[in-house]
Amino acid sequence: MTILDGKKVSNDIKNEIADHVQSMISKGEKVPHLAAILVGSDGASMTYVGAKVKACERIGFKSTLIEMPEYTSEEELLEKIHFLNTNDDIDGFIVQLPLPDQIDEQKVLMAVDPDKDVDGFHPTNVGRMALDLPTFLPATPYGIMELLERYQIETSGKNVVVMGRSHIVGRPMSILMSQKRPAGDATVTVVHSRSKNLKEITKAADIIVAAIGISEFLTGDMVKEDVVVIDVGITRVPDQTKKNGYRLAGDVEFESVSKKASYITPVPGGVGPMTIAMLLKNTLLARERHG
Ligand code: GUN
Repeated sequence: MTILDGKKVSNDIKNEIADHVQSMISKGEKVPHLAAILVGSDGASMTYVGAKVKACERIGFKSTLIEMPEYTSEEELLEKIHFLNTNDDIDGFIVQLPLPDQIDEQKVLMAVDPDKDVDGFHPTNVGRMALDLPTFLPATPYGIMELLERYQIETSGKNVVVMGRSHIVGRPMSILMSQKRPAGDATVTVVHSRSKNLKEITKAADIIVAAIGISEFLTGDMVKEDVVVIDVGITRVPDQTKKNGYRLAGDVEFESVSKKASYITPVPGGVGPMTIAMLLKNTLLARERHG
């Protein structure tokens, strides 16, 4: 069994980007500038956005964090998005999800200029992805594709089961892996909360991408020998033995599944760090495209 070390691979990618930034600086070029909008003070979102800003600093990007209170109105958020869309100093920006209930998420995502949409969530960019046109790929699926590619995991003709149909992970993952591309050419099945005979389907999978948001849902009896398992889940599970009162769990019961897997991502240290690295890669791409 081999651990798919997202922490190591993401560090390799960040070092590659940092080298690129140094060469931009030596040529007198402007360095990439990422902005992030965080509405409210959800603990997990604050952690994620903080990690994104810190990663920018480490590799030499400029970053701007815009924090808005929980009671922010949709109009106020749309104004801020307009400001970032029209500010030439900003190459790309993200609006951290989830948003408070009074704000229509779809309306917000559609307000982001597709040329600055480094999360790849705008319908224009989702459409471009589906048509295999140049675009910003959403960071988590992009990170998983990169991880599969760098570990040279054969995907062509393999049975892939994607668990979950979210707009951010499951749906794009199923599209990308079925396309003609590196880490693609797979036969993809998407399963979700209404799927029947789940175990029968997962047992036939060569590769499983678990992205349903239920901690330790996929267990050893649901997979075949030598399966490749990508665990996208990250849930805080109460644990009194921990100082902060919780531990992080994935959608996969690591203990039982890892005994049968040929490759598996850990949580934390698997998909999570890859997401941040690919967001940085998209921001670099945005800078280069803006010329
Ligand atoms: N919330 C969970 N994942 C993501 C992500 O990739 N981008 C943003 N903006 N919010 C998220």
